Amino acid sequence: MLNSSMLNIRIAKLADLLSITSIYNDAIATTTATFDTEPKTLQEQKKWFSHHDKKHPILVAQLDNQVVGWVSISEWSDRCAYAGTGELSLYIDKKYQGKGYGRKLFEAIVAEGKKLGFHTVISRVAEGNEVSFHLHETLGFEMIGIMKEVGEKFGKRLDVHIFQKIY
Ligand SMILES: CC(C)(COP(=O)(O)OP(=O)(O)OC[C@H]1O[C@@H](n2cnc3c(N)ncnc32)[C@H](O)[C@@H]1OP(=O)(O)O)[C@@H](O)C(=O)NCCC(=O)NCCS
Repeated sequence: MLNSSMLNIRIAKLADLLSITSIYNDAIATTTATFDTEPKTLQEQKKWFSHHDKKHPILVAQLDNQVVGWVSISEWSDRCAYAGTGELSLYIDKKYQGKGYGRKLFEAIVAEGKKLGFHTVISRVAEGNEVSFHLHETLGFEMIGIMKEVGEKFGKRLDVHIFQKIY
């Protein structure tokens, strides 16, 4: 059968927050991609959402009527001299992983960061996340260092690799 589903990448709306939260909470519960360990409530997520704006966007990828992933540029720090630096996050619903949607969303946010005038974007990627390493390496990020044993999840201490792109 012909599959005419198109991936639509757009700015997130508050109405997307349930889907965004459900994707994120699944990653919290089952992966080391995030060092959060407790599920986020909608209340907490609303606060997170409100810390994003035109300068710090959240994008979603939508397939038909379904949000299948999200990506964001957050403030790296609220100290003003860091204003030109953003931190990236990227999550795809498990059911839709491995189909190229992560790469598309990631490409979109990297382009958005440039358009918004960021000087540099940074991602913190836990050890073992080979898919994320691959995406960063192939999108012009440099692995600039490893923070050793800074996290502990599922009974294992974890290193975090810092990936940076300077525009
Ligand atoms: C990481 C994540 C966003 C990737 O999204 P995705 O839609 O599954 O990824 P895609 O299908 O677009 O791309 C996967 C790429 O990794 C490659 N890949 C798959 N398995 C791999 C492996 N074991 N080692 C290296 N590369 C691998 C694929 O070949 C593909 O590469 P290509 O685009 O050059 O062909 C998604 O898996 C996810 O949400 N994971 C949990 C959260 C997470 O890890 N977020 C990133 C935190 S920094």
